[in-house]
Amino acid sequence: PASAERDERGILTLAGIAADELVERFGTPLYVLDEDEVRAHARRTLAAFADATAAHGSRARIYYAGKAFLSTDVVRWVMDEGLAVDVCSGGELAVALAAGADPARLGYHGNNKSVRDLERAVQVGIGSIVLDSWIELERLAAVAQRLGREQSVLVRVNSGVHAETHDFLATAHEDQKFGFPLTDAAAVVARIRETPGLAFVGLHCHIGSQIFGTAGFEESASRLVAVHAALLEGGEVPVLNLGGGFGIAYTSADDPTPIEQLAAGIVDAVARECASRGIPVPDFAFEPGRSIVGQAGVTLYEVGTIKPVRVSDDLERLYVSVDGGMSDNARPALYGAQYSARVASRVSTAEPALSRVVGLHCESGDIVVDAEYLPADVAPGDLLAVPATGAYCAALSSNYNFVPRPPVVAVSQGRARVIVRGETIDDLLARDAGVGPSSTEEN
Ligand code: LLP
Repeated sequence: PASAERDERGILTLAGIAADELVERFGTPLYVLDEDEVRAHARRTLAAFADATAAHGSRARIYYAGKAFLSTDVVRWVMDEGLAVDVCSGGELAVALAAGADPARLGYHGNNKSVRDLERAVQVGIGSIVLDSWIELERLAAVAQRLGREQSVLVRVNSGVHAETHDFLATAHEDQKFGFPLTDAAAVVARIRETPGLAFVGLHCHIGSQIFGTAGFEESASRLVAVHAALLEGGEVPVLNLGGGFGIAYTSADDPTPIEQLAAGIVDAVARECASRGIPVPDFAFEPGRSIVGQAGVTLYEVGTIKPVRVSDDLERLYVSVDGGMSDNARPALYGAQYSARVASRVSTAEPALSRVVGLHCESGDIVVDAEYLPADVAPGDLLAVPATGAYCAALSSNYNFVPRPPVVAVSQGRARVIVRGETIDDLLARDAGVGPSSTEEN
């Protein structure tokens, strides 16, 4: 994070706390999340879209996409900064509610929401539900009617734009599971408008994640406006929710567009399209997840073993094993994601050596950092810091090989506290029905 520096001993500090002190208190692996940086990204995003939309007399609501990383503290931080929160499962909804979130400031996504979860959402008075299919439309209408409520809904459409990102992260091309085809949108909205219990508030589209340029967003937004324009006769001017997906820098090779430029690019593109159709510029919503929390997170590991491996006649690589891996960061294995690493516990003057940071799991794809130059004297007991792990690392973590999940510690101005407790082996054993006295009792 922005707050990373070295102290007089050469040890990396995060928000003013030395890495060795954090590790002494909380162990390794350790997810560290800089609260002030999360808040700063939230504020900056809000301001960027407020400025971009104000130029056209409209407004933007920013939902933090909780799937990137969710805990009650994070919900409170981002809501405190003026964001709403987007949840995509009954579990995420439960976290947001446990944080004391105003349900009116929550949005609910998903391509297969259960009746039970829909009921819960309607019952608590959730702000909006994003409809993803005809079956869900009828399902939600039945729930709302049964509960005597009118539920605000958006319609998720598939704009047909294939975002330039990893295939698994693109969500608006034709051959994938999310949303209605753009060509169905008018019929879906007409059906909602005649259905008691449902109130249409706008269109939604999310083209994908970790996107660097504005072109995909602009193209998608223009296609949406064409449909949006046809819906204006029905009453209130619907909002346009254009999803999230703003890319961040994981390594120095990444060069994402600054959020101010993205915001202006997307909003101006919509405004141009609206002007050409002679319709007012609508209010907007966006749902960034990664760009709010990604760079505010760092994972600390301890180095265990080191192996020089001769890859070919002219290539040798150090395999540096740490005490975590694909269970705390599945992204390299899932998406070939690239990260960087540095020794956090000292400064070394040794020559840089091509290294691959790997985990402790029984898979050769268990890579944390594919390629990095670490000092050639990297040694067992050194602490490694892997930056930009705030998004989709804890969120995607697993217990593969019965490795307990690490705690998440929030740091702010020289103070650190656990915001998500780490697991113990006993936590994991407790789920095994064959362990301990309960197994004999049951038999
Ligand atoms: N809105 C919708 C409807 C989404 O599906 C997503 C992400 C977002 C917003 C937030 O996107 P973001 O701003 O965080 O890019 N596990 C993958 C990312 C999956 C994203 C899923 N949907 C990864 O680790 O890269």
